[in-house]
Amino acid sequence: MSGQQAGQPLAVVVGASRGLGHEICRELVGRGYAVFACMRSEPQEHPPAGIRIITGVALDDHEMAKSAVLIGIKLQRQAIDLLIFTAGLLVKEGSLASHPENYSTQATVNAHAPIFITSALHQHLQPGSKVVFLSSKMASMTLMDQGTNISYRMSKAALNAGACCLAQSLKPLGVAVAMLHPGAVRTDMYYEYHGHSKFRHAEPASESADGSISASQSVQDILKVVANLDLDNTGRFWNHDGSQIAW
Ligand SMILES: NC(=O)c1ccc[n+]([C@@H]2O[C@H](COP(=O)([O-])OP(=O)(O)OC[C@H]3O[C@@H](n4cnc5c(N)ncnc54)[C@H](OP(=O)(O)O)[C@@H]3O)[C@@H](O)[C@H]2O)c1
Repeated sequence: MSGQQAGQPLAVVVGASRGLGHEICRELVGRGYAVFACMRSEPQEHPPAGIRIITGVALDDHEMAKSAVLIGIKLQRQAIDLLIFTAGLLVKEGSLASHPENYSTQATVNAHAPIFITSALHQHLQPGSKVVFLSSKMASMTLMDQGTNISYRMSKAALNAGACCLAQSLKPLGVAVAMLHPGAVRTDMYYEYHGHSKFRHAEPASESADGSISASQSVQDILKVVANLDLDNTGRFWNHDGSQIAW
């Protein structure tokens, strides 16, 4: 049973348990999409109507192949209009040399798994489908002005490289691909990176003094970029405000 109405667009969001993925699912349903929300564990709350949960979707080394199969089984024969990878991992690190496993873990979750799963789902992509990878401007070599978080930066640069390849291979099939920096967004990742407790008290409504934005603001921006994504601009690296980021 698909639960999708005739003519209704279908979105698959990987990494939908919290943060930007969660917010994107809510927004897409409001915009008329049928949504498959993919996550590792059972959600704590019952999902709103229009969102179907796929649990067991983990992006770790020995899990990604199973995750691709799980999504494929749930989709049955349905085509994906919008595939978005939001799952990501930022391990705050001191010295890469003292924790070499940090690179492989983040490379797997942030780069290898999204590219692998997209390739595995290619039969569900059709002319007009769009694939979006949440990257980070920390991957930009042009903008790099700090030597921190080497493994996160490398993993997102690897994601960008893989996504560029996919953009080329999927273009003849009519499928457009984007890499997108969502902004400095006040999610768990942001608060953990900045050393704050998850149980923060005051949430600024929109942009705060440090330039950070709310998840809902970021998602509005992200979906504008998605709306403008087409085969003429496939394979580019976008900021959430619609400008392009240099590699
Ligand atoms: N927030 C920012 O300021 C910012 C800036 C630039 C780029 N980004 C990128 O934007 C994306 C979304 O970030 P966010 O801020 O929403 O992060 P978040 O709140 O920390 O959420 C991370 C999501 O990734 C999932 N995830 C982590 N490891 C996973 C794994 N091994 N397998 C499957 N799922 C996994 C988490 O699932 P669980 O709940 O199961 O842990 C969660 O759904 C990430 O790719 C991030 O790198 C964020």
